[in-house]
This record gives sequence, structure tokens and C-alpha cells, in this order.
Amino acid sequence: MQRLELRQPDDWHVHLRDEDILVAVAPLTARQFRRALVMPNLAPPVTTTAAAMAYRQRILAAVPSGFSFEPLMTLYLTDQTAPAEIERAALSKVVMACKLYPAGATTHSDAGVTEIHRLDTVFACMAEHGMVLSVHGEVVDKDVDIFDREERFIERTLAPLCERHPRLKVVFEHITTAAAVRFIKRARPGVAATLTPQHLLLNRNDMLVGGIRPHLYCLPILKTENDRNHLLGAATSDDARFFAGTDSAPHSRHSKESACGCAGVFSAHAAVELYATAFEQAGALDRLEAFLAERGADFYGVPRNTGQIVLERGDWVMDTQISAGKDCLIPYGAGQTLGWRLKRGD
Ligand code: NCD
Ligand code: ZN
Ligand code: ZN
Repeated sequence: MQRLELRQPDDWHVHLRDEDILVAVAPLTARQFRRALVMPNLAPPVTTTAAAMAYRQRILAAVPSGFSFEPLMTLYLTDQTAPAEIERAALSKVVMACKLYPAGATTHSDAGVTEIHRLDTVFACMAEHGMVLSVHGEVVDKDVDIFDREERFIERTLAPLCERHPRLKVVFEHITTAAAVRFIKRARPGVAATLTPQHLLLNRNDMLVGGIRPHLYCLPILKTENDRNHLLGAATSDDARFFAGTDSAPHSRHSKESACGCAGVFSAHAAVELYATAFEQAGALDRLEAFLAERGADFYGVPRNTGQIVLERGDWVMDTQISAGKDCLIPYGAGQTLGWRLKRGD
């Protein structure tokens, strides 16, 4: 196959940040995706509908004219989030989901939730309004190995939560393990998962063998080849619960290449091409459109996009760096060659 025409895709999990980084990355996501669910882990986090609406305006201001990009907003749940805020969010039509970060689990999660049961009235209110709960699924207990944190989260937190709130729509974000795939396949209706390009293409050896590659360090951390195979199998299956969420997470070069480097892989420059590469590896390019452009929209209850994108076969070399104000960002696969190229993003 030399050319693929696909319905315009959506990114159901992206970090656009703010200020210089926002200005640098918003055009990249807007070129690749018609809509994107924007994560609220700014500093300080986006905890109110008013803050989400203001952030949405800053994003739109950073998107060049000529793109019909639509940012879909999220609220950051804290121990203090009140049901009244959920009511406001639901009425806004702008906020599509609330994000659960267990406190301390990932980048900018310090203000996250420390005791999930405290939010049961908030979850009940979300279920009533059909608002999606988007979950960073890792336990933070010191005694749990970093490679086991997702699996423990399923047992200790996610499975009981889905049972306690049987009508709550839940997205298990950026899943990384065979255990997560098994959980989603058996879960009740209304529970789905997003998958990132890096977790479909890489395992932990890619990050750690022959030298440590900080630009491949993200959370949840890359897992084993067996896990990767299960993730790729799920993404390329006909199961509608698995869809695209890049988790593109830009950090300045100096904060990645550091004695204590930040977690996050930046993939917005080539996300669609990276997914195409993974699907081709699995011999499943015929499922790419459903994964990128149909299942997520259906789950979130928004119409599928009507425009088209075109992917053409042809080698190209990814940028080695992307400047962002005085800083620069190192994109996933910097300087490497990809075999698919997005020709039209709008
Ligand atoms: C994300 C970020 O940098 O905001 N980092 C990451 O490693 N995935 C946060 C997140 O999605 O957990
Ligand atoms: Zn996360
Ligand atoms: Zn993320």
C-alpha cells in the first residue's frame, strides 16, 4: 500500500503545556489531529471550569489560522474538588472529562488525589452528567516496584472504582501492560483505554540497553516485549475499547537530560505516522482508521470527524529538535527515518 486516506483523527490524551511550549507544540497537534483532549496538569493545575475556558482560549490563540483544530478540555481532580464544580463543567460543554492523578504518580501530580474514596460524591455527579473520568493508573506506594505500579493499581483502585460507580465512564490512560489489556477486555461497558505510540513501538530495552535514553522515559514506564505485543494486539484488534491517546508530553531538553530527568515522551510532531508504523508492523493498517478516528469519538459521544487526511509512503527524517522560546524540545525518534508521511492535516 502506498497511500492511505483516513478520516481525520483525534488525540484523546495530549499535553500542550502553556506559554512558549504551548506556542511550539499546538501547531504540531493541530496539523495531525482535528480534536485533542488536553490534559490539565499545568502548574498550577486546571482545577476549575473557568480556568479550563481561559486555557482553551490560550490554546486557540497558539493555533495558526487555517487549522480547524478543536481543543477539548479536562479538569484536574484534587482532594478539594466539589460536585458543584462538576456541574459547572458539565454545563460548559467545553470540559469533556476530569482527570484523576494519584498524588505523586507523574509529572505535576503533587496536587492530585490522596484518598480516592473522598471523591465518591464527585464520581457520582460525573456519572450523572455522563462526564468521563480519565485516569493515570499507577499506585504510588513506596514498596511497589515501578514496573508493577499499573498492575497493582488495577487491583487496588481501578477495578473497585469501576464497580462502585457502575455508570461512570472511565478511560484507563496510556496503558502499558498485558494486565491492563486483560482488565479492559473483561471490564463492564463504559470502560476503555488509550494507547500511546511509544508503548506500541518500544519496550524497556529500547530505553535502557546500550545507554540510558532519557527522551524515552515516560510514566507509566515502558514495559517488556510481551507487554508491548499485548498492547499492539489490542490496538489492532476489532475491540472498540482501545483507541489513540498520544500522551505527547513535551519537556525542555535540559529538564529531560538531567540528573533527575522529567517523565514524558514528546510525539506530537509525528504521532499519526508513528501509529501507522506500529500498525503496519502488526499487518493491520486496515484497523488504523478505527483506532485513530472512530472509537474514541464514539466512546466520548461526539460525532466522528468528516474531513480526511492522507498518509503517503516515503522515507523522511524526523527533526532533531524543535525550538520553544529559549528552550528546545527533543522529539521522539529525533533524526530517525519514518516510512509514512502525513500529507494533509486539515
Ligand atoms: C506526562 C507529563 O509530562 O505531563 N508525563 C508522562 O510521562 N506521561 C504526565 C502523564 O501523562 O502521566
Ligand atoms: Zn499519565
Ligand atoms: Zn499524559
